[in-house]
Amino acid sequence: MKKTLIILAHPNMPESRLNKALIEAVRNESHVTVHNLYDSYKTAESIDVQKEQDLLLSHERIVFQFPLYWYSTPGLLKDWQDKVLVYGFAYGKQGDKLKDKIFKIAVTTGAPHYAFGAGGWNNFSIDELLRPVQQMATITQMIFTPTFCVSGALGISDEELKAKTEEFVSIIHTETWDDASTKFKKYVGA
Ligand SMILES: Cc1cc2nc3c(=O)[nH]c(=O)nc-3n(C[C@H](O)[C@H](O)[C@H](O)COP(=O)(O)O)c2cc1C
Repeated sequence: MKKTLIILAHPNMPESRLNKALIEAVRNESHVTVHNLYDSYKTAESIDVQKEQDLLLSHERIVFQFPLYWYSTPGLLKDWQDKVLVYGFAYGKQGDKLKDKIFKIAVTTGAPHYAFGAGGWNNFSIDELLRPVQQMATITQMIFTPTFCVSGALGISDEELKAKTEEFVSIIHTETWDDASTKFKKYVGA
């Protein structure tokens, strides 16, 4: 099974319902490392860049798991990107250290599924809102795979959350997270 690093960025895990359900369901898997950013760091300045880069290097798959905060990631995950994904490591001359790592977003939202996209009160789909994260993956030469989203924190029932958690576990257990080009080649039989 591919070594999978879940970078969890939730400022208030004690009061979390959705992210807690997801992470507790996978944290004991032998191929999974759960790295809780808000447990590790109180400030952006305290982020240990070398340790974070070593963690990235020692895994084949990287997951950003977070609750949607103001249509984006919580602040510490943005700080983490700014500090860790530097020139010469993640981009630029010899900055190919993340090349071919497989990347996924696992996001939770307060608003329900139908609030996202044209005509919904959030106007944009979750993929559209999280374009900066997708482009981060692309420019660092990682392979972006479809986003996993649990929406509707305000109204989701225990049964619905259980089903979404099972879906997440199944993704984490799946060896291949097909990217768009692999999916297309399979579809056309190439
Ligand atoms: C500061 C803050 C900003 C938030 N911004 C959004 C938002 O832009 N869109 C949304 O759907 N939910 C938003 N939420 C709701 C959270 O995304 C939601 O409570 C969380 O995903 C639920 O997961 P949890 O049970 O793990 O905390 C926000 C919550 C907080 C505290």
